[in-house]
Amino acid sequence: MRDKIVAGNWKMNKKLEEALQLVKELAVSEIDSSIKMIVIPPFPFIHSVVNNVENSTIKVGAQNCAIQASGAYTGEVAAAMLKSVGASYIIVGHSERRLYFNENNSELVEKVNQSLKNDLTPIYCCGELLEERESNNHFKVVESQINEGLFHLSKEELLKSVIAYEPVWAIGTGVTASSEQAQEMHAFIRGLIAQKYGQETAGAISILYGGSCNPKNAKELFALPDVDGGLIGGASLKSDDFVAIANSF
Ligand code: 13P
Repeated sequence: MRDKIVAGNWKMNKKLEEALQLVKELAVSEIDSSIKMIVIPPFPFIHSVVNNVENSTIKVGAQNCAIQASGAYTGEVAAAMLKSVGASYIIVGHSERRLYFNENNSELVEKVNQSLKNDLTPIYCCGELLEERESNNHFKVVESQINEGLFHLSKEELLKSVIAYEPVWAIGTGVTASSEQAQEMHAFIRGLIAQKYGQETAGAISILYGGSCNPKNAKELFALPDVDGGLIGGASLKSDDFVAIANSF
C-alpha cells in the first residue's frame, strides 16, 4: 500500500510565534495513524517546529534547497543543513520556484540528488500552466518535467521520492482540478513510472494533488484511485482546516 500523505506548504507565511501555535494545535489533534502529516515551514522556523512536534508523528519538510552541497553561496541553504535541523522532506520544483526564480529541470535534478544524498525525501512538483492545458499540451508538459527532473533516478532512489501534481491554474485560485482532470493526470504520471520502472514501482509511489485543496473538496479528491493525498497551501495555515483535510481519506 502507498503512503497516504497530507503535506502543508506554508510558503512565505507566518512569524515564529504563529508557526509554533499552529504546530502545537496540530500536534494534539486527532489524526488517523495511517496518515502521514508533514508541515513545511519557511527555513527560519524549521528547527523550532521540529522541536515542537517531537512527541507527535508529524514530520517537517523544507520548501527548497541549494543545488550545491556547501560553500560560498551566500543566501543559499544546503540539504545537509536541513537534515541537521531535523527536516525529513524537501519540496523540489514547486511551480512558484519554476516561475518566479527560473528553476529549470536540470537544476531540479541537482536538488533531487542533494535531497536523496542527505536522506531527505524529495517531493517533486510538476504541473502545467493554464495556457498549456488550454492548448492541450498538459500531458506533454508534465511528461517532460517528470522525465527531465526525476527519471535520472534508479528504481531504489525513485522509491524514496514523492510526486506532487499541482496544476498552476489551480494554485491559490480557488479553482480546483475536477476529479476527472486530477485522476487522469495522476494515472498518466503513474503510467510513465510503470513504463520506465515497472508496475510494482509505479504502484508504490505516492502522488499528491495540490491546488486549492480544502476541507470541502479533499474527500472527493482523495477518494480517486491514483491520488494519494495532497500538497496543501492556503488551507494548511489553519489547524482546523488542515486537520479536516487530513481526516478526508
Ligand atoms: P493552495 O492550496 O493555496 O492552492 O496552494 C497549493 C500549493 O501550491 C501547495 O504547494
